[in-house]
Amino acid sequence: MTEDAIVANGITKAYGSMTAVDHVSFRVPSGGIFGLVGPNGAGKTTIIKVLTGLSDLTGGNAQVAGFDVRKYPMEVKQRIGWVAAEVILDDDFSGWENLWLQAKFQRVSEWKGRAKQLLDYFALSAFKDNKVGTYSTGMRKKLEIALALLHEPQIIFMDEPTIGLDPGTRRMLWELITGVNREYGITIFLTSHYIEEADALCSQVAILDQGKIAAMGSPNDLKARVQGDYIELETGEPVNETRLLAIPGVREVRAQGRTWILKVDRSEEFLPSLFDHVKPDLIHKINVEKPSLESVFMQLTGKRIDQAGAEVQDYRKFYANVRRARG
Ligand SMILES: Nc1ncnc2c1ncn2[C@@H]1O[C@H](COP(=O)(O)OP(=O)(O)OP(=O)(O)O)[C@@H](O)[C@H]1O
Ligand SMILES: [Mg+2]
Repeated sequence: MTEDAIVANGITKAYGSMTAVDHVSFRVPSGGIFGLVGPNGAGKTTIIKVLTGLSDLTGGNAQVAGFDVRKYPMEVKQRIGWVAAEVILDDDFSGWENLWLQAKFQRVSEWKGRAKQLLDYFALSAFKDNKVGTYSTGMRKKLEIALALLHEPQIIFMDEPTIGLDPGTRRMLWELITGVNREYGITIFLTSHYIEEADALCSQVAILDQGKIAAMGSPNDLKARVQGDYIELETGEPVNETRLLAIPGVREVRAQGRTWILKVDRSEEFLPSLFDHVKPDLIHKINVEKPSLESVFMQLTGKRIDQAGAEVQDYRKFYANVRRARG
């Protein structure tokens, strides 16, 4: 494999007149964890689909594991694993039977040794003969990752691996993802709209907004670009924007619904003077955002990532909950 596991050169995907992915370029070094972060509808899944050969490119080109995705889709597919955002397991089959199905699907003949080793690694051996319908959400996720690893891929694509999971299961998965990366030496390409997830896991992050890359770099490089803190302020009554701008240390003021987003030099100095300018009983909520990937996103787009494309998220959480209830 070349030094870069994935190279995307101006990749573009249009659905009719709608451009879902617009001239996106990046490189993913072999052995790293690369995160594509963006709100609902930003184009994350579309990028995974074109890189895995599931969907054709409208423009640009990409190499995955050293092969052009358009010219050599089979070579690419043999070298990659995919963990979809949707559940792909068959509930009526046992864990072992799901692995057997995956081996058939991937045309791997010598799969049993590897399958046993993966079940051990993910602490699923004791449950291998139980129907997957009886598994917890965390066990299902582990099995999905085991399936993706069965044919010994060089790169794994994970589309929102922790969507709809409770915080404990999410942390467990974070450890597994870094473990798989380190112990199996596999390059991981993941998408997320949980910005702290990318911060915790990824060596490189690309922030995607409306089909375009807004910023790219290591989490620390990106955070270093934000100077100052963000304050979210929710008030009971409308507050005059010029009054907020007049407070010493305020650099920018933006309205988002009933909330104000203020950019200030230092929140420690700003907060006492805020109360001199706005009566404390008018203030319903204050949230201080120190430099983080979230504040990078706010600086670039003027929105919070979780509020940049809200309505889709709810139904996906709903389905995630339905799945959990079934499990
Ligand atoms: N098959 C399709 N036909 C038409 N439009 C599509 C299709 N697939 C995706 N889109 C549109 O392309 C845009 C990007 O969608 P995509 O699913 O890649 O976003 P995403 O970042 O994965 O969002 P989410 O966080 O909701 O998964 C959206 O506006 C979506 O409606
Ligand atoms: Mg998606």
